Amino acid sequence: MTRAVASRFAALTSCAAIAWLAGCEATPSSERSSITLNGVDVPSAVLARGERVYRQRCLLCHGESGDGKGPMGVKLSPPPLDLRSGKYPHAPDPNALPDDAYFDQLLVRGIENTPMQPFDLEHDDRHAVIQYIKSLSPRFVTK
Ligand code: HEC
Repeated sequence: MTRAVASRFAALTSCAAIAWLAGCEATPSSERSSITLNGVDVPSAVLARGERVYRQRCLLCHGESGDGKGPMGVKLSPPPLDLRSGKYPHAPDPNALPDDAYFDQLLVRGIENTPMQPFDLEHDDRHAVIQYIKSLSPRFVTK
């Protein structure tokens, strides 16, 4: 086998393996270039940054999947919000989907008298983690 053919063969077999792992779905979500959150396209690089921030700063309480049952979350009162619910009791209109400005203020100020404290994060990290937590809720994921 020539080198070109060999590498093409390797590429083909690994694609087949990926298709098999993904249950023959079209494009795995990790390979999409963006995600649409409430009608706004968010680049996957922003989402990846948000996931890193989430894992470092939020997972302990809100949990791996956002269910609010992180290792520390299960011990807290009030319990951390289940971020998959897409319902935010502290938002100005708890039934509507809040905008990014709401989440930004939430992270800057925290929620008084609860374990949800203010976070010292730079703007781009706040923006990214906000997109990430929205991506955990089917109410935001419109496509
Ligand atoms: C020390 C535990 C803890 C950590 C860490 C934490 N949270 Fe929370 N969070 C809570 C608790 C507890 C609540 C619920 C407060 C309540 O019900 O009044 C909450 C509520 C929320 C809410 C719901 C706001 C609303 O309108 O009801 C959002 C959104 C949120 N957290 C996002 C985050 C993000 C993003 C991070 C990481 C940057 C984070 N939290 C880190 C404990 C935590």
